[in-house]
Amino acid sequence: MEESTMKLNFPVDRGEFASAGKASSRIKKILQNIGLNNAFVRKVAIATYEAEMNLVIHSLGGQITISIGEGKVIIEVEDRGPGIENIELAMTEGYSTATEVIREMGFGAGMGLPNIKKCSDDLSIQSKVGEGTKMIMSFNYQ
Ligand SMILES: Nc1ncnc2c1ncn2[C@@H]1O[C@H](COP(=O)(O)OP(=O)(O)OP(=O)(O)O)[C@@H](O)[C@H]1O
Ligand SMILES: [Mg+2]
Repeated sequence: MEESTMKLNFPVDRGEFASAGKASSRIKKILQNIGLNNAFVRKVAIATYEAEMNLVIHSLGGQITISIGEGKVIIEVEDRGPGIENIELAMTEGYSTATEVIREMGFGAGMGLPNIKKCSDDLSIQSKVGEGTKMIMSFNYQ
């Protein structure tokens, strides 16, 4: 992205359910304050929240970076952790490795990644087993 890009960084801790959703709600407020339309902000917020919860639940922690440029918002999500062995399988609706405890908390429907795919205009996932995962999602606006 070119010079007009604004870039902000938010850490996400593993297992931190008390503060989970903080990064995505901050990102939502930033986009609202800029004056981007509600439907667009909602799409970015949903995808970012799903990615944030995946870091809390499935990784050892990481960070979310938002870049806002002319007509485009890019969300980069990076973690250290087990990685994703089969990305295609992980993208399948209903596929989840979440434990019973996590399911009792209301997560683990296996809908996070499919939702991210639906909400974003472009999605790339790179993962190394035993190292971690990097996801880049982009959203176009008028
Ligand atoms: N950051 C990550 N690190 C390691 N594994 C991940 C990560 N994100 C997703 N996964 C794997 O992909 C699976 C599917 O993820 P997805 O977000 O679609 O569903 P979920 O998190 O299990 O449930 P839900 O998002 O509906 O609460 C997860 O169960 C997990 O096995
Ligand atoms: Mg999820």
